[in-house]
Amino acid sequence: MMYHALMQAAERVRRKAYCEYSHFAVGAALLAENGTIYTGCNVENASYSLGCCAERVAFFKAVSDGQRNFQAIAICGAPEGEEPSKPCPPCGACRQVMAQFCGDDFEVVLSDRIHLLGALLPTRFKLE
Ligand code: THU
Repeated sequence: MMYHALMQAAERVRRKAYCEYSHFAVGAALLAENGTIYTGCNVENASYSLGCCAERVAFFKAVSDGQRNFQAIAICGAPEGEEPSKPCPPCGACRQVMAQFCGDDFEVVLSDRIHLLGALLPTRFKLE
């Protein structure tokens, strides 16, 4: 099942998280419309605010590879060294980045269930 495979990819890349400061490791796996999966982990920095979330790493990898259309993203997160046991909802900034490329029906796969972007971010900023 695709959602299961997507979450497995998120769990696998989560092991690569560079989270020296928060010790909270996140993994994300983004499914492009053509079936390609792009993964990302959080990458932190000594200058704290320069760190980037796993979801945005996955999106920026995909867009820089020429992708513009996406079906779903699976996300998992937990303290480093622990297995994820609770859903890890995406932060507000990442929701806005998702909304740049995805519609309300974009699927956000968390460990509890599938959430729709339209429900997670009912009103998004638009430059108009
Ligand atoms: N983090 C993510 O990677 N994704 C989220 O949706 C929320 C938070 C990261 C950022 C930081 O490296 C660590 O988790 C703790 O906030």
